[in-house]
Amino acid sequence: MKEKVESICNEIKGKISSISNIQDLNNLKVEYMGKKGVITELQNGIKDATDKKEYGMNVNLVRNCFNECFESKLKEIEEAELNKKLESEKIDISLPSTKINTGAPNILESVIEEVEELLMSMGYDVVDGPEIEEDKFNFEMLNIPKGHPARDAQDTFYIEDETILLRSQTSPVQARTMLKGEGKTPIRMICPGKTYRRDDDDATHSHQFMQIEGLLVDKNISLSDLKGTFDAIAKKLFGENCETRFRPSYYQFTEPSVETDISCFNCHGKGCNICKNTGWITVSGAGMVHPNVLRNCGYDPEVWSGFAFGFGAERLAMLKYGINDIRTFYQTDIRELKNFDRKEAK
Ligand code: DAH
Repeated sequence: MKEKVESICNEIKGKISSISNIQDLNNLKVEYMGKKGVITELQNGIKDATDKKEYGMNVNLVRNCFNECFESKLKEIEEAELNKKLESEKIDISLPSTKINTGAPNILESVIEEVEELLMSMGYDVVDGPEIEEDKFNFEMLNIPKGHPARDAQDTFYIEDETILLRSQTSPVQARTMLKGEGKTPIRMICPGKTYRRDDDDATHSHQFMQIEGLLVDKNISLSDLKGTFDAIAKKLFGENCETRFRPSYYQFTEPSVETDISCFNCHGKGCNICKNTGWITVSGAGMVHPNVLRNCGYDPEVWSGFAFGFGAERLAMLKYGINDIRTFYQTDIRELKNFDRKEAK
């Protein structure tokens, strides 16, 4: 019996040593431990054995031998398979990387954000208003009654028989904000947003463009507050050396009204084609809120005063980035936009 045990064990060791995959290992298990397996049959032989105890011990020796060989082989195969997998899935970090095309912030959006950031730091709220607007807000409450010639310059797209339209300016948000204030609370707001006009598109006109509206209503507000605010915005956008000036102008919703200019960042006053040889560039309309507008919107002009301003956002971005065609913003030519990503702001 002893020799038999030894020979079976040697046989097991021999067979297992040549195995290199799980499938063959499992087949071997069936061959030895299965229902009709070598070890199972050996075990069954116990009933004919004379010394059952010794026989049983010998069978156990064979079983233990098989189990030990089986377990260590299993471990060996599993390790080998893991190593193979690790090897095949290894990332070669010396390979050049795949270039990922990254986008860049839209320059129009970033100019607007710059203005928002500055004015928020000065206590202004950024508010929103509807692009589909009522004639009442777009014109009437702003002191531009029906038939007023100022409407000609702001002809727009009408949705419903001249009462509902696409707003031609962001100024209606002034009226909406004041109505919310109910004549009681001071207001500091800016509203960047889309505006529309019935213009033929060319290098400086677009039927859809963006404005940044600003409104401050409080007590004892004067033109010098507007000047200081405008000066801060201009310096933030065009650098500390930027100088500002007001020129008299006319808007129906402000009195007095001004045109705001910045000193030419290109020629610094010498005269060039950007400033049309004047040394100055106009960037917004502004003024003190007209008493009629304050009254229309529930603010008593004897108590309250305020200023308002309106920038053309594309114009700011065009000046800042040296763009000479407004259509650039709306043609979404990726090559152009990437170009601005790299171009230093003026
Ligand atoms: N809404 C004017 C326009 O589109 C711009 C403007 C001028 C806005 C003066 C203002 C302002 O708030 O005070 O031409």
